[in-house]
Amino acid sequence: MKRIVLLFVFIIVACEKEAKQTQKVDNELAKENPAQKQNSVLNQVNYLEKGNEITMATQTALLHTVAKAIAEKGSHGAVEYCNLKALTIVDSLSKANNCQIRRVSDKYRNPQDKAQNEIEEKALKTFLEKHQKQEKLEPFTLQEGQNTYYFKPIMIGMETCLKCHGDKNKDIEPKTLATIEKLYPNDLAKGYKLKDFRGMWVVKFSKSTW
Ligand code: HEC
Repeated sequence: MKRIVLLFVFIIVACEKEAKQTQKVDNELAKENPAQKQNSVLNQVNYLEKGNEITMATQTALLHTVAKAIAEKGSHGAVEYCNLKALTIVDSLSKANNCQIRRVSDKYRNPQDKAQNEIEEKALKTFLEKHQKQEKLEPFTLQEGQNTYYFKPIMIGMETCLKCHGDKNKDIEPKTLATIEKLYPNDLAKGYKLKDFRGMWVVKFSKSTW
């Protein structure tokens, strides 16, 4: 109980600190008064929020679909449900927000999930280096011409992930392993442990549409 109270206090203090920092930035910009700058700060906040909303909705749908498939067909039968393309929500979210949603990893299972350009490589490197130093990983955005990229870390957050991404001799059932190896002959995405950095969400916003 004491721990829970402490946790709440911590969260409240952390949130207040963040609010004050934002306030400070706003004040400083207001002093200088270029409306443009003020706008860019607001946009930045929007992209972070929007990216978070989009990836949360996608992740929830994905987890739901995979959990349902595991319950109905077992892990080996669920393997093909881990593809984002199988989710209708990805299509509707992309259209509604004029964005592309994908996952990228250094140890990818699907070769399409390899970093595809310099900006993705840079973001992946940032997360990997921070994770190596045991620093906390936070989402961030990067601007590239007209485009804004949102990046969010994906961790091995629960035991379920290990059924398909864990130790192939211990965590992955032989039948599941066989399915994975058949569908992804060059798979790199095994051998993970709980709390490992697995990859990142990437949302590429083509231009501001809200
Ligand atoms: C039932 C098996 C299964 C489970 C359980 C599973 N995955 Fe996957 N995962 C896959 C498959 C198969 C792919 C490749 C999907 C594709 O072709 O797009 C994949 C792809 C990924 C990718 C994209 C990068 C890549 O390697 O291509 C990430 C990130 C990922 N999984 C994270 C997780 C996390 C985190 C969990 C636990 C919450 C999890 N997975 C649970 C089978 C699984």
